[in-house]
Amino acid sequence: MTDDLRAVRDAVAADGFSFVAAAAMQDLLDDAGLRDWEGFSASWNDLGLDTYMADGGRYRRRRHAAFALSGGEVRRKPHQPHYQSRDYNPLNGGLERWFEPITEAVGTHTALDAILKTCFALFDPLTPAETKPEVWHTEVHQFRIEARAGEAGRPTPEGMHRDGVDWVLVMLIRRENVSSGTTRIHDLAGRPLGSFTLRHPLESAVVDDARVFHGVTPVEPIDPAIPAFRDVLVVTMRRA
Ligand SMILES: [Fe+2]
Repeated sequence: MTDDLRAVRDAVAADGFSFVAAAAMQDLLDDAGLRDWEGFSASWNDLGLDTYMADGGRYRRRRHAAFALSGGEVRRKPHQPHYQSRDYNPLNGGLERWFEPITEAVGTHTALDAILKTCFALFDPLTPAETKPEVWHTEVHQFRIEARAGEAGRPTPEGMHRDGVDWVLVMLIRRENVSSGTTRIHDLAGRPLGSFTLRHPLESAVVDDARVFHGVTPVEPIDPAIPAFRDVLVVTMRRA
């Protein structure tokens, strides 16, 4: 596990981001105690509609939870709104957005516990000692973006952006009948640094939010007659 961890850390330190292959992420999460991926993944079938969409879209479902993360400890915080300033999210930011809470079963699931511990193991050592917090304010989002005929689903309707945190993990949970949904990474001057498409469960994008912008192209149904969606987990960590 340490080799996989070190490889991701080195890539993020060098480039400001990294694509993590499913096998590497699987090794990391297995070491951190992952069990019952199927049950965890199935919980994306039970998300609430995001009614704060300034573009009027009804294509995003989500749940949200906040945690305190420190060495070896994962503690859920009381349910709270998600806030981004308009500097970071000119489309949907500037107000407290209350989303449905992540269920108790998902909040205590071994998969989420393993993912949060892995995030800490990745990101805490990448943080300079002088800025490293005692406890990381950590937010977890379950997202489903639905694509319909004539209405592409936009994973990042705000476009290329930063989340306004220190570190970001975006993990693919499931893709069903969608094309595109390509993750793009730009430097702070807007120059493209890389792009990749999360296709297989566990494949992830890891981002140093201070150094790069990220965005995802819209998803479209391959067969418009049947449901089409892209499920991801997003974990952000910032100094409290
Ligand atoms: Fe983001």
